[in-house]
Amino acid sequence: MKLASTIGAVSSLLLAVNATGFPSEVLQQILGSSPSTSRNQPNFVFIITDDQDLKLDSIDYMPLTLSHLKEKGTFFSNHFVTTALCCPSRVSLWTGRQAHNTNVTDVSPPYGGYPKFVDRGFNDNFLPVWLQSAGYDTYYTGKLFNAHTVDNYHSPYVNGFNGSDFLLDPFTYSYLNSTYQRNRDAPVSYEGRHTVEVITEKALGFLEDGLNGDRPFFLTVAPVAPHSNVDVSALDRDVPTVMTEPIALDRHQSLFEGVKIPRTEHFNPDKPSGVNWIRTLLKQDEATLEYHDHFYRQRLRALQGVDELVDSIVKRLEASDQLDNTYIIYTSDNGYHIGQHRLPPGKTCGFEEDIRVPLLIRGPGVPKDQVEDAVTTHIDLAPTIFDLAAISLRDDFDGTPIPLPSSSDSVHPRHEHVTVEYWGLSYLEGEKGALSNPDHTALVLNNTYKSVRIIGDGYNLYYSVWCNNEHELYDLTTDPYQLNNLYTASFSQYPEVQIFGHSLSQVITRLDSILLVLKSCKGATCIKPWDVLHPDGSVQDLQNALNPRYDAFYTDQARVSFDRCERGYIPESEGPQDAVSYSRYGLSWDAWA
Ligand SMILES: *[C@@H]1O[C@H](CO)[C@@H](O)[C@H](O)[C@H]1NC(C)=O
Ligand SMILES: *[C@@H]1O[C@H](CO)[C@@H](O)[C@H](O)[C@H]1NC(C)=O
Ligand SMILES: *[C@@H]1O[C@H](CO)[C@@H](O)[C@H](O)[C@H]1NC(C)=O
Ligand SMILES: *[C@@H]1O[C@H](CO)[C@@H](O)[C@H](O)[C@H]1NC(C)=O
Repeated sequence: MKLASTIGAVSSLLLAVNATGFPSEVLQQILGSSPSTSRNQPNFVFIITDDQDLKLDSIDYMPLTLSHLKEKGTFFSNHFVTTALCCPSRVSLWTGRQAHNTNVTDVSPPYGGYPKFVDRGFNDNFLPVWLQSAGYDTYYTGKLFNAHTVDNYHSPYVNGFNGSDFLLDPFTYSYLNSTYQRNRDAPVSYEGRHTVEVITEKALGFLEDGLNGDRPFFLTVAPVAPHSNVDVSALDRDVPTVMTEPIALDRHQSLFEGVKIPRTEHFNPDKPSGVNWIRTLLKQDEATLEYHDHFYRQRLRALQGVDELVDSIVKRLEASDQLDNTYIIYTSDNGYHIGQHRLPPGKTCGFEEDIRVPLLIRGPGVPKDQVEDAVTTHIDLAPTIFDLAAISLRDDFDGTPIPLPSSSDSVHPRHEHVTVEYWGLSYLEGEKGALSNPDHTALVLNNTYKSVRIIGDGYNLYYSVWCNNEHELYDLTTDPYQLNNLYTASFSQYPEVQIFGHSLSQVITRLDSILLVLKSCKGATCIKPWDVLHPDGSVQDLQNALNPRYDAFYTDQARVSFDRCERGYIPESEGPQDAVSYSRYGLSWDAWA
């Protein structure tokens, strides 16, 4: 039995005694001196899917998840990832840091993958390790990182888990022939079994371990659905890997006949959009669209197994005495696009489809059937878990706890910005991915950019600077599908364009300056970036910064730019790094005057 319930039983016993006249101060002393870890610290079940979109409505096809987690919990409608690619995003999530601070920016070495995570020292310094030292038993099953393989899984083993059963490359995305590796055991191949069925058994097994333990538990379940399937036999044949449509469990194969990708304005548009390589994509023909609709349905079908997995976990918790002491967090590592802006299936872009993911949280004190629209990000999740578990926040967290009834009385800053960053390759997935590319390759180079997504009172913007120094500015209030790039290098070119009552040059200079701060921010400066520009605290958001008295200050600021395109984080190639603060600017201006 868990301590929590033991103490619960003891306290109700004492309360009964109290009813017969036991002095309440004595009662308080007895209760206060009880061992309190388990009683005060909640459990966590963290479910992280792979490549699950928010914008293409995938979650709407998961009725069990909606009823267990959305109706009985809070849905965060403005939740974003900071890098739209599995491994960098997961390392950011498990460390609470932007990818420019982890420098795990890719899926494989030298810039990313499990070996880079280990080289950077994070195997001794990430969420499960911290939670274990705070008194948690920790369990993990499913995909942890890319390039965590059947060859390197033991050199070294992943730290921080009391029990683990990881999916390993190159079989991670083999839906019907996955390889899992448990604790210190050798890898095991699950040929012929569906990966989601396998992970469900493993997840329920670890949940049992967690429920039977004496300490609070943190269980992560990381299925690969709805990621593309990767045919591993192709690896031996030395042909380029093709990422094909995901595979559903047999019982879900024929669901959703006739369902199609939402035909929004930006779906396979007549005119190209975006910048850089995206602007060169070809319009997709009928056969390609049919395949992409099929691909979309396969994602929804593959997610049905995950929906049932969520249901099994919640039902098991319901049958225990721990449901009311357990936070269930559901999210994905990055979003996904299919057909928007003519893009074949994939992620890696800064568009809404790629950077928005579902976030659902249910647990003690979390409002039920609520939608929270505060801007939140993946780097906020480790701080959030710390906060809920009453662990003091780390100074190196680049994020801050998200709005939830807090375990402590502290009030955490909110933020209106998301720092989005990406280095290196993009991948055009699906059998017809390469066809969209004029040079017919499925790999795209120079997909390196920095962006800021900002949502505040009266504004809803996305601003990006690419490594070839192209820029984007979308006003999502008037252009929700990001089809109309308002950026112009010569601000006087469109004097008539206004964004919530301000000129383009006013808005662009502010966004560029905040991006200059964010692209190399650390800790507190990632959370409150305007403080770097205005150290006296007089400016806390874009609205304040737009005060015309700062026009000259923002116009004179160094501009975000790149010297060249790199595959990883090479600051020397990334132009100016430091912003001048308003107080220093004022001083030098006074000296000059
Ligand atoms: C990030 O990692 C790459 C690859 O190891 C390295 O070349 C680069 O200098 C690192 N960047 C920083 C800022 O340390
Ligand atoms: C889990 O691991 C931690 C750290 O090694 C250890 O202190 C704790 O006792 C373990 N829990 C169980 C149930 O073995
Ligand atoms: C399944 O994977 C194993 C390696 O884990 C491999 O030996 C086997 O050939 C694969 N089976 C199929 C049908 O590809
Ligand atoms: C990619 O960027 C490099 C360095 O900036 C440049 O030399 C090269 O021409 C670019 N390639 C493409 C395909 O854009």
